[in-house]
Amino acid sequence: MTTGLDAELMERGRRLFAGDWKFIWASPSIKTLPPMAGVEIAFAGRSNVGKSSLINALTGRNALARTSNTPGRTQELIFFEGPKNANVRLVDMPGYGFASAPKARIASWTSLIHQFLLGRASLARVYVLIDSRHGIKDTDQDILTTLDRSAVSYQIVLTKADEVKAGGMAERIEATRALLVKHPAAFPDVLATSSRTGAGMPELRAAMALLIGERQR
Ligand code: GTP
Ligand code: MG
Repeated sequence: MTTGLDAELMERGRRLFAGDWKFIWASPSIKTLPPMAGVEIAFAGRSNVGKSSLINALTGRNALARTSNTPGRTQELIFFEGPKNANVRLVDMPGYGFASAPKARIASWTSLIHQFLLGRASLARVYVLIDSRHGIKDTDQDILTTLDRSAVSYQIVLTKADEVKAGGMAERIEATRALLVKHPAAFPDVLATSSRTGAGMPELRAAMALLIGERQR
């Protein structure tokens, strides 16, 4: 059942993402980041897991973030800014665990991701995206370990839920929660989403509206 508070948060989330979102900055390295400002929320995950698609689904924009069938589409830290009064930014990140790129490039992306996650005071939350079909892999564990060391709150978001049968989804959520016991800094709850069907978007928007409200108090 949805309580009054949940309904109010869902509405705040809906309004936040119905506003105007735009691209503001792309950074290929840690030295060229935009000045810190507002509440930043980043999306991390293996290549092709659906990070850029999730940003598009959240904002209701087809092509705000660039997506692709081929892993390795997003190659920089990409910053999007929300409505002016909201003072919030979304950060699309390059994927990790992409085996077919040149080794030096993988190393530089991986280092960029870890440095950003550890050293950004304005970063308020990281959503770590996991493909519902595959679950948490070793490269995901490395990111979770980095996040355990940072002061950033983080939560697992399962993506592409439309690709898994309903029963399989419940099992995947349980298995993912069980693995999170080793990461006490993570939110114990796991969100199931599909950018294709829009499942889980109202809940994710509400979670961000709550975070932003807390930060601005
Ligand atoms: P990189 O930038 O390369 O790290 O990838 P990414 O994580 O940003 O993934 P992206 O959003 O580009 O999506 C990768 C592929 O997954 C695309 O072909 C999308 O259409 C597909 N995809 C994304 N979200 C969903 C979803 O919810 N369901 C299904 N079935 N496919 C999805
Ligand atoms: Mg991408």
